[in-house]
Amino acid sequence: MIEYKNDIFALHGEGFSCLMRVNPYGLLELLHFGEPISVDDAEAFTLHPGLGWGESVLLEEGDTQSCPDVMPLVWSGSGRGDYRESPIQLGGIPTDFRYHSHEILPRPEPMQSGLVQAHGEGETLKILLRQPGLELTLYFSVFGGVLTRRTVLQNCGENTVDLTRLMSGCFDLLGEYEMTTFDGGWIAEMRRHVTPVGESRVVNESVTGFSSHRHNPGFLLSEPDATETAGNIYGFNLIYSGNHYGAAQRSLQGFTRVMLGISPDNFLWQLQPGERFETPEAAVAFSTEGFGGMSRKMHRFVTEHIIPPYWKERPRPVLYNSWEGCMFDFNHYRLVSLAREAKELGCELFVLDDGWFGQRNSDTAGLGDYTVNRKKLPYGLSALAEKINGLGMNFGLWFEPEAVNPDSDLYRAHPDWALTDGFAPLLSRHELLLDLTRPEVRDYIVAEMSAVLDSAPITYVKWDMNRHSIALGEKAHRYILGLYDILRRIFAPRPHILLESCSSGGNRFDLGMLSFGPQIWCSDNTDPIERIAIQESLSYLYPQSAFGAHVSASPHAQTLRTTPLRTRGNVSFFGCLGYELDLGHLLRIEKEEIKGQITFYKKHRDIFQFGAFTRLKNGWQVSDGKTVLAAVFRGQTPAAPGYETLRLRHLDPEKRYRFTSVPQKLRIGPFGSLVKHVAPVDLDPNGFVLRTADRLITLPDGGQDLLASGAALMAGVRLLPLFRGTGYDKNQRTLTDFGSELFVIEEESL
Ligand code: GLA
Repeated sequence: MIEYKNDIFALHGEGFSCLMRVNPYGLLELLHFGEPISVDDAEAFTLHPGLGWGESVLLEEGDTQSCPDVMPLVWSGSGRGDYRESPIQLGGIPTDFRYHSHEILPRPEPMQSGLVQAHGEGETLKILLRQPGLELTLYFSVFGGVLTRRTVLQNCGENTVDLTRLMSGCFDLLGEYEMTTFDGGWIAEMRRHVTPVGESRVVNESVTGFSSHRHNPGFLLSEPDATETAGNIYGFNLIYSGNHYGAAQRSLQGFTRVMLGISPDNFLWQLQPGERFETPEAAVAFSTEGFGGMSRKMHRFVTEHIIPPYWKERPRPVLYNSWEGCMFDFNHYRLVSLAREAKELGCELFVLDDGWFGQRNSDTAGLGDYTVNRKKLPYGLSALAEKINGLGMNFGLWFEPEAVNPDSDLYRAHPDWALTDGFAPLLSRHELLLDLTRPEVRDYIVAEMSAVLDSAPITYVKWDMNRHSIALGEKAHRYILGLYDILRRIFAPRPHILLESCSSGGNRFDLGMLSFGPQIWCSDNTDPIERIAIQESLSYLYPQSAFGAHVSASPHAQTLRTTPLRTRGNVSFFGCLGYELDLGHLLRIEKEEIKGQITFYKKHRDIFQFGAFTRLKNGWQVSDGKTVLAAVFRGQTPAAPGYETLRLRHLDPEKRYRFTSVPQKLRIGPFGSLVKHVAPVDLDPNGFVLRTADRLITLPDGGQDLLASGAALMAGVRLLPLFRGTGYDKNQRTLTDFGSELFVIEEESL
């Protein structure tokens, strides 16, 4: 709800209020952004500068109240007395926007530039500020528990304006904060770092041309004593896939100025008379219930207002992806045989990854040429897709539409279509980007992809992009507008196609890409222990239905770590489950285990994909209100481990629940020479008998089954003891290194 009373703007969403006023100087002051409060309480939040501060620059001589440098603002300028970071810069020209008028709208105004914005009902406050020759409009919308902001600058004058910075939003928050950022690189996405915000600026920025795995655009501000379950947290994100900037810095007076928007690094936009520039929309989730409360709000926002409505809570198929198993080495028959195996295991969608077109036999050639490679697929795509449909599975396909290999027919025909900067081309993974700012390039991509998508029954697209950009300034932003134009033209008429975006893994995991496709491939790193950290970090800002999460081979290609199949499954369950390994290399017992995993996942798919997600001390839980699924993850096993407790959350303390562990199988290989102590004959642990037995025999492990109240389960259920070197017992948990366990907690019906 948005109200305007006694000269105060009050925006109320689920669990928050934002109060602003136009002060006597026409500047927009932020009185409060936090806990829900009434507009009638505004006086309690009004600051009194009294006799002012030393060396203040005043807007009105003699008026100590008129110092902009100490005002808590939602917008400011450069060179006019506020020496904190400015949300706007016009290439060295001072900016001093003052209030002109406002409107309260029942829903957001559509954007005009081709950017993406939150969809659905969202009451909107539109405030117009002016300075000579320029109009600045600030939009604030309320979507459930999330406040969004964006800014539009209109050139009403007669001269071109050099826009070098325009933030989507800016807030002065009173108090002390820590900033959590999610940083990394290829196969090392989303490493969580916490930095105290002091009087030096803390910055979260990407300048690679994309949102990037170096620094995800989402970041958090938390009070230093906040925890997972309590304390004030702000989660910030940007609905944009290009260069981004987020910053926080404390002033002497105790305000933390936080802002976010397009990165000003090398940014320059020449705004001609009569033109307008629109920033991307920023989203802020506030919660008093710690990191968990903030995350739940962000998850709902993404599900309700970001992803395409067609995919809202629509179950995502269990998929098999050919990449890690085959790479470029496949043909029609190998794919059909893999598909047959994948179907046997329970997969519902077969995805043919890279290598199906042009001369794409390695990553050095063929990008850009989306004609089927007849050597590998002599019967064509539609015959393959139909064959796979005949096996009872849907068919999906990989593309990397934004890039081109110099060794391709496309590049030979149109070398000028590649993005260049006047210097020698800079290759990355042997590829260049196409210049998506050019209409003919966009038309080509739309036509080629549409023709392929309409040539065969294709229900899924993996849209990859495997390099950083070289575009700077205006071009970098226009590239993203070009990308959104292409995505809109291809997928708006084909809403049933499940679009999973990917960028060397999670190099473009952002709300912009999620606006077109509801899933993103989190990382090329599928080692489950690494994935626990990656998926957990993503869970601060994105719902688990957005995570492409696959079981891959062990030892793992990137870490050479050996992990139990059950842990690979248990981690991938908390996302959109897939399998990505050579099925021909699986043992019979592994195939049985995978069948069990897929059956279990399908039974609980709605909860895994769309249930409320909670980070626990030693694992995760998801819940639909009646059934909770919880996983406990272990790292390396210590000798003589102590007892372990699982503290669940968000249960009804009064209700009774059945708490059971999902049966797990233990291979005998890990027991090594211990086996000979229990076997009647002396067996060599490296000998034929035990090696064969390891491939054939499994032991039951750790079945727990009890009834308890929600209160007891939230206080902490005692799990069965762990293996302590004193022998095998099926009533203990022999998890081994990197083991894990899954529990089902179901409300007892009366
Ligand atoms: C990228 C993706 C992988 C795979 C390969 C194919 O690395 O992240 O998942 O699709 O490209 O070349």
